[in-house]
Amino acid sequence: MDSEENMPLEIAQLGQPVLRAVAQEVPLDRIAGADFQEFVAAMLETLEYEKGAGLAAPQVFVGLRVFLAGIHPAPAEGELPGIEVFINPTITPLGAETISAWEGCLSFPELLVLVPRPRAMRVEYVDLNGEPVVRELKGFAARVVQHEFDHLEGILTIDRAASTRDIIKASEIDTVREEEE
Ligand code: NI
Repeated sequence: MDSEENMPLEIAQLGQPVLRAVAQEVPLDRIAGADFQEFVAAMLETLEYEKGAGLAAPQVFVGLRVFLAGIHPAPAEGELPGIEVFINPTITPLGAETISAWEGCLSFPELLVLVPRPRAMRVEYVDLNGEPVVRELKGFAARVVQHEFDHLEGILTIDRAASTRDIIKASEIDTVREEEE
């Protein structure tokens, strides 16, 4: 039987103040510590349990600048993308091209929001080994990282909608897609 340690973390839902706060930098000397490593492991379990594309620490009531995002190709067909851990990230858009796509969020899974974002970006961060990393991402990976980065700033997809008409019930996405065609 699983112990309580394996229970998924509670996801903060829209209305919880932690989702609107600016998160704090992770002190680099904490990364190797058991507390932090166990916290990230619990976040990973929670993301897998929820089958999300990403999860930011404020979404589990922890105001630290760390998030997970599925940016690596799935190891096999039908499996989920590989998850990367981003600590103290900074992001820079690359190029002027912006693309809009429907985004969900575990903190309000009932909604989808059409969010315009730069197509390509650079992200600099520290990984779970405490090593600095620089990546250039585009497409879905770039979108997930920008969505999760927003969580560290207290910004949600609903803030980025070009119009309130770009906020829909997730259950109605098929109707919306038919209209778009
Ligand atoms: Ni989200």
